[in-house]
Amino acid sequence: MISKLIRLKNNSVKPKWFLRQSGRHIPEYFSIRNKHRSFINFCLNERSIIEATILPLKYYNIDAAILFSDILLLPHFLGQKVSFEKKIGPVLEGIIIDDKFLKKEIDLNDFTPIKKAIFEIKKTLPPLKDLIGFCGAPWTLACYMIEGGSSKDFAKTRTFLWNNEKSFFKLINKLTKNCADFLEYQYLAGCTVLMIFDTWSSMIPDRYWVKFGIEPTKLIVERLRKKNVKCPIIGLPFKSGEMLIQYSYETLVDVVSIDWKTNLNWALKNINENVITQGNLDPAILASDNSLSIKKEVYRILDLTQKKRHIFNVGHGLTPEVKIKNVKYAIKLIDDY
Ligand code: CP3
Repeated sequence: MISKLIRLKNNSVKPKWFLRQSGRHIPEYFSIRNKHRSFINFCLNERSIIEATILPLKYYNIDAAILFSDILLLPHFLGQKVSFEKKIGPVLEGIIIDDKFLKKEIDLNDFTPIKKAIFEIKKTLPPLKDLIGFCGAPWTLACYMIEGGSSKDFAKTRTFLWNNEKSFFKLINKLTKNCADFLEYQYLAGCTVLMIFDTWSSMIPDRYWVKFGIEPTKLIVERLRKKNVKCPIIGLPFKSGEMLIQYSYETLVDVVSIDWKTNLNWALKNINENVITQGNLDPAILASDNSLSIKKEVYRILDLTQKKRHIFNVGHGLTPEVKIKNVKYAIKLIDDY
């Protein structure tokens, strides 16, 4: 494991990056975004992928770039129409989980602009900075694919699950394979860390937690290891509460991303001690005007993780309201600690 993020055994200096670091809180983002009629086109334009991926590194002294892309590219390439509407978010056309859909393979040729962008980004990145490739976890992808977009409770998806357990299993199994293939593709193209976003793991009914919250991620990691993918793998089981413990022992990920709701002290005491932690800072604090609060929160995390291997990060993505000066201030606090 050669990654800078993770190789630090003596964690006196905390590695750091930020979830959604390349988004709308940086003004230049919009000039890249506005070149494209659709967000999907943006995510498939080699030049724009490179520019957006590198953008936050021009502002911040961070240890990793995350590939500019989206978890919903996978449904798009599985033939489901995906669009991003202003003030609504993603909108996905209805799917029918029939044999034709289940047999549809992803065509890795579709990802060529991503591969080329990874290759170019690697040329410009300093050797010790990581490039993170990613995908959505099967449960989270299934949520968007069945619900047709974002939702506060994904009730339609959960009702679908209770009605059609067999179809739901088949969809998850299919996505598990597709996710592993897509991650392997990003690794082979040059990514040095991989990440699996289970943004909606808090919506998994308890009865299905192991089946959908643990097993798909575990199968993805096992599949990648079998294919000789050697880089660190980060899992983000967002707001999964006490289930973090089982997740940390059973999914085989190297790093667990801790959301901003979870008590970090509890997490450090209870999760698998061989797993590296990441995150926990509330991104909303970086939109505030309160530098004293920022200082206290950054120190709280640094104090708690002083003797641990921890990657400094937010507990969920930076929002458009986040202020660049606050992110810079947090970075300075970490570097001077
Ligand atoms: O800095 C980065 O992390 C950039 C790459 C990135 C994006 N999306 C770009 C993006 C990553 C890692 C993602 C992951 C992603 N996408 C997740 C998992 C992480 C998380 O936040 O929990 C999810 C759930 C999505 C799905 C998605 N994409 C939604 C719900 C939305 C619309 C809502 C929103 O936050 O704007 C998107 C669009 C999207 N993906 C934007 C960006 C920069 C905004 C597009 C725009 O309006 O310009």
